[in-house]
Amino acid sequence: MCGIIGYVGNEECAPILLEGLRRLEYRGYDSAGVAVHDGTELRVLRAAGKLTALGDALARTPVHGTTGIGHTRWATHGKPSEHNAHPHVSGGIAVVHNGIIENHVELKQRLKAEGREFLSDTDTEIVAHLVDLATQRGLDLFEALRSALREIRGAYAIAVMSKSDPARIVLAKNASPLVVGIGDGVMLAASDVPALLSHTRDVIFLEDGEMAEITRAKVRLERVDGTRVDRAPVRITWSLMQAERGGYKHFMLKEIHEQPRALEDTLRGRVVLETGDFEAGEMGIGDDDAKTVKRVILLACGTSYHAALHGRYLLEGLARVPAVAELASEFRYRNPVVGPGDLVVAVSQSGETADTLAAAKEAKERGARILAVVNVQGSAIARMAHGTLYTHAGPEIGVASTKCFTAQLAALTMLSIYLGRRRGAVTREVGVALLAELVAVPNKMRDVLATARHIETVARSIMHARDALFLGRGLSSAVALEGALKLKEISYVHAEGYAGGEMKHGPLALVDRDMPVVCLLPSDSTLEKMQSNVQEVRARDGQVIAVVDDDKAAASLAAHTLKVPPTHEWFTPLLTSIPLQLLSYYVADLRGTDVDQPRNLAKTVTVE
Ligand code: M6R
Repeated sequence: MCGIIGYVGNEECAPILLEGLRRLEYRGYDSAGVAVHDGTELRVLRAAGKLTALGDALARTPVHGTTGIGHTRWATHGKPSEHNAHPHVSGGIAVVHNGIIENHVELKQRLKAEGREFLSDTDTEIVAHLVDLATQRGLDLFEALRSALREIRGAYAIAVMSKSDPARIVLAKNASPLVVGIGDGVMLAASDVPALLSHTRDVIFLEDGEMAEITRAKVRLERVDGTRVDRAPVRITWSLMQAERGGYKHFMLKEIHEQPRALEDTLRGRVVLETGDFEAGEMGIGDDDAKTVKRVILLACGTSYHAALHGRYLLEGLARVPAVAELASEFRYRNPVVGPGDLVVAVSQSGETADTLAAAKEAKERGARILAVVNVQGSAIARMAHGTLYTHAGPEIGVASTKCFTAQLAALTMLSIYLGRRRGAVTREVGVALLAELVAVPNKMRDVLATARHIETVARSIMHARDALFLGRGLSSAVALEGALKLKEISYVHAEGYAGGEMKHGPLALVDRDMPVVCLLPSDSTLEKMQSNVQEVRARDGQVIAVVDDDKAAASLAAHTLKVPPTHEWFTPLLTSIPLQLLSYYVADLRGTDVDQPRNLAKTVTVE
């Protein structure tokens, strides 16, 4: 996600801002910019692309001053470009923002009606206008930001500067990270600690609902509701590398732990709890389109293909529309029957996978409507599609996909309920009940993540296995396939994922005392059949690791149980995927493999 840096001190700040942004590069970005107070004016420079482009712009047009803010942007609203890069300016106000303003559409309409002109496609520019309007009403910068915050809903880390305040930055945080660094006569703010470490190790982490004001000498901390906050700084002892990973040993582990937030961000601004429905304007699927879709074809590769397989269950079960999931890498080789009436959903974390792109293009040429479910704004698949449904998981750096997988499951759940509501397959009442549970899932994910230590112990018991089997039925079958892929790609343990019903048709021959068999046993309609699978494995001395939402499900038969909280059966995969990711992670780490960069694999596969 985006990176924010702010500096109030005595040195020329442009190089400091640029260096801070470099320290945040690991977060991913597509454009960057700075605003520096030169004593009289706010000087703003922005550039699309890498930080070298911003560095070149600064070399051509140097800006001088000792107070400034900087930003690296990971596009969410509006494509990656210079005019969408931050800072955004209104009057004498410059703003950088990380997050998503949920009510940006209505606020933009109102501000436009009041004569405000918008120069970007971003949600952030609204904040600049709101703060500017509030300062024009006579509020000082801190109070102006507070007044703006009362109008916006959503996730944000915000840093604001004013032309009339040459040595002050005001800040706010809700659901996106922001940390203040306290130096000697110098104050900084940043999205993450690595950007601060060359200046200070004394930091204050802002909490949700808090605001701060930094000047050279002072930090003022308050809640948006006006309550004063007294928080002592903490001393950071992490190395720079640890800091980039938020203290986690690997990006993959960090990303596994980011899943509750990724899910919240993917649902944010789209869920309408009152009507049991989703707002998904960017999909470009109107009510009539939803009713007339004859078939959905999901195209994807690798982990995204497993999300697509689950999407097939969701689309048929919830929307009652015929659905198939196809390996994009195979699609074109069989002269597919596809055309008008088909909705082709291209699922891809990167949005650049060559096979998925080529398959979607072929379907488009044959007259199908293309919907891109991708994580990267403006990526090739997003550009060629008729509509997009972005997963807002933030950049994924570990080669093994984790948070993007669960965000894809969530996006396909949204699509299914959206189509189901319009096709009459999901009533308002059912929709309301489903969404009420869906928004509770992020906290249940947190409960699963809290069991990581136990999962590490289980991983220790299977770390020397040569092979492993993953079994699940129905809504858990795609999770089983994904569990096996995760284990093999990062730990190099040979693993197979099977629908439970297939076990007797071959893989059972492999089961012996050396074979860990991971069985997905949530309390749904497949439980009894899965329990039979467990018996069959036990009868051959196989070592059962049961993923359960009820301790009784595996009773005495499992060597180990991995527990998740109960949820609606449609959402169980959002929870059961997590222990499997952690199991693979710990096995790989214990075996000493290169977890984030497994051998022979690339994060984005741009060749067919
Ligand atoms: O970017 P995409 O989602 O299109 O990538 C598809 C696969 O290459 C990807 O999921 C791959 O299987 C990952 N290494 C899985 O962890």
